[in-house]
Amino acid sequence: MATASTFPPKTTGSLPRVDGPLKVTGGAKYTSDYNFPGMLYAVPVCATIAKGSITAIDTSRAESMPGVKAVYHRQNIGKIYRAAPASGFSSIIDERRPPFEDDTIRYYGQYVAAVVAVTYEQAIAAASAVKVRYNIEKHDVRSHLDPEEKPKVDSTRGNPDEAFASAAVKIDSTYVTPVETHNPIELHASVASWDGQSFTLYETTQAVVNHRSVMAQMLGVPEENVRVISRFLGSGFGGKLWPWPHCMIAAQASRNLGRPVKLVVTRDMMFQNVGHRPLTQQRVRLGATPDGKLVSLMHDSLNHTSILDDYSEGCSEATAYSYSTPNLRATSGLVRRNVGTPTSMRGPGAVPGLFALESAMDELAFKLNIDPIELRLKNEPQKDEGINLPFSSRHFVECLKVGAEKFGWSQRNPKIGSMKRDGLTIGWGVAGASWIAERMESEATVELLSDGTARVSSATQDIGTGTYTVLALIVSEKTGIPTDRIEPILGDTALPAGAISGGSWATASLIPAVTEAIEKAQKVVLGLATTGSDAVFANQKEDALAFTAGRVHLKEKAPETGVPFAEILTKSNIRAASGQGKSTGTFGDPNRKFSTHSFGAQFAEVTWEPETARLRVSRVVTVIDAGRIINPKPARNQIEGAVVMGVGMALFEETNYDARFGAPINNNLADYMLTTNADAPTIDVTFLDYPDTVLNSLGARGVGEIGLAGIAAAITSAVHHATGVRVRELPIRIEDLLQPVRQVTT
Ligand code: MOS
Repeated sequence: MATASTFPPKTTGSLPRVDGPLKVTGGAKYTSDYNFPGMLYAVPVCATIAKGSITAIDTSRAESMPGVKAVYHRQNIGKIYRAAPASGFSSIIDERRPPFEDDTIRYYGQYVAAVVAVTYEQAIAAASAVKVRYNIEKHDVRSHLDPEEKPKVDSTRGNPDEAFASAAVKIDSTYVTPVETHNPIELHASVASWDGQSFTLYETTQAVVNHRSVMAQMLGVPEENVRVISRFLGSGFGGKLWPWPHCMIAAQASRNLGRPVKLVVTRDMMFQNVGHRPLTQQRVRLGATPDGKLVSLMHDSLNHTSILDDYSEGCSEATAYSYSTPNLRATSGLVRRNVGTPTSMRGPGAVPGLFALESAMDELAFKLNIDPIELRLKNEPQKDEGINLPFSSRHFVECLKVGAEKFGWSQRNPKIGSMKRDGLTIGWGVAGASWIAERMESEATVELLSDGTARVSSATQDIGTGTYTVLALIVSEKTGIPTDRIEPILGDTALPAGAISGGSWATASLIPAVTEAIEKAQKVVLGLATTGSDAVFANQKEDALAFTAGRVHLKEKAPETGVPFAEILTKSNIRAASGQGKSTGTFGDPNRKFSTHSFGAQFAEVTWEPETARLRVSRVVTVIDAGRIINPKPARNQIEGAVVMGVGMALFEETNYDARFGAPINNNLADYMLTTNADAPTIDVTFLDYPDTVLNSLGARGVGEIGLAGIAAAITSAVHHATGVRVRELPIRIEDLLQPVRQVTT
């Protein structure tokens, strides 16, 4: 029998990703890596207009081409239902219209048909031979937003209009964040197979359980007849949270043809058919006393959405609780455009929202001639004034102070353009960050096996952030089994229903379920150890025993005196001691007692060469208060990645819609600019590591999205410090820095 080679085994500390070796050796199978005998390839045909209707589809030539098995469109794909309205975290789909539901075209690239053929090349060739005739109408992809309906009030207190009108010092600025397209390297894909009764769907999804529920509803089969598998993801950034129309096309084609069907969404389709972060336009008004106390805060945000779907970015997510002020109002409104349906993108709401709010705070500090950190300290709230509840744990002030120390903020000369180094002008900026921390309902199973290993499973998934690894670490920490002897199994609806991989909540959500499952499995072992006359601990009471470092021992004696759990199982001829656990959810809980959020402070340094108009982000210091950090290595990696994405948000990322055709035109990785290695600054990440036990016993709130919040505002503030130009519309362009002000796009 195998036993741990060292005692006690090493069970804590930073653990590199347990799935790393599989990934770097090519052993990890991603969705589009699955191939089955007889599998066919589906290629969608995309609309080449942004508004209008289909008047005719001629498939005759495509149908006669080599290898073509079918060309589907509205008349012949078969029934696809809509999913019922979402409730909580189930039945969620952002583009609710099933593919081919009607002949109306509402955005460029909308699927109008799909070819299924023996090879991918045959399907591509035939897709280009499908002739579609349209009645073309005038589309609207304008980026200037005017409210179309009465905005929704997200939060309100006091009398913000009156307080603003009479405030001694005022800021009234409008900020714009552009459409950003999720560009995970792994393309969206579905590999669907129908066995005459049930679907097996290999999907690029961050939420297998929701995916099953939506697909079962739309395909018109019972949920138990759908199995969704997503073992590895080449990331998603929120774009893979919910199903998209290609999923139904693949599944329906598979059912119609009785063969497995693979559909891979191409990079250019990713700019059209699988969501994006919507354009936002946000007006922030701040009123303050001459010494910098906020008396009024108004945040009115608009975002564009598609013609049929009401996707709200939620820009005011962090507005109501960030700062103390008696008078506040946050509103949001939607403006319809001929674009695909937007969706969540890393830090939805708070990330664009905090760009606006934190930029306005910097503008106010400048106007008041107060240090921007000092201004934030003056307005630190004692509780969440938006919902009138205490924070479970908030260390924002410490984030600012620790960050200032690490960054060297005390050396800052606030005068614009005054700081120089190596012939370059230096700019320093700071911004606050926050992100919602919640727990989602989750189930997990833990098995302690007679070979001395353990298995932990849940129908959640790992989008590359380290969920496999953190589960191995938690089980190891609680059982004393070394992490290399623990097998985490995820990404399959056959497992107990787990959390979505979204909101940075998976870890926090899984901890109570996994902890309970471990305790129950351990109890089974203790029961076996004390039951029967020849039991290892015969004549002992179960509660006299403890399970420590992989061994069962008398509580009053040291773990070394105990018996390895594997020996107890083997002696009883039992392969596995199994326990199930369940976490309750906190999201939307009307009886909540605390406001639960993560916080952070972002410090950015830019260098500016006015002679050549060269702007670089040279250095970022980030201090994160996200509760206990269970696995520091991937957690740090998450924050570093988020900072790099923040540099992209500030300087590069923007999806452009061509005014003439309504098409996203920079729809590839050459024209859609992302931060590269050469653009990445030096990044210094600090975790404060205060456990927040409101969410779970380990005190983890989870990390990921928090690292992106505030970065863009810190960078534009640094740019202002270096150049005197206040950029309110992202991304920052060289042209902005050559002229005093760039007007909001009309
Ligand atoms: Mo994240 S946008 O919740 O995947």
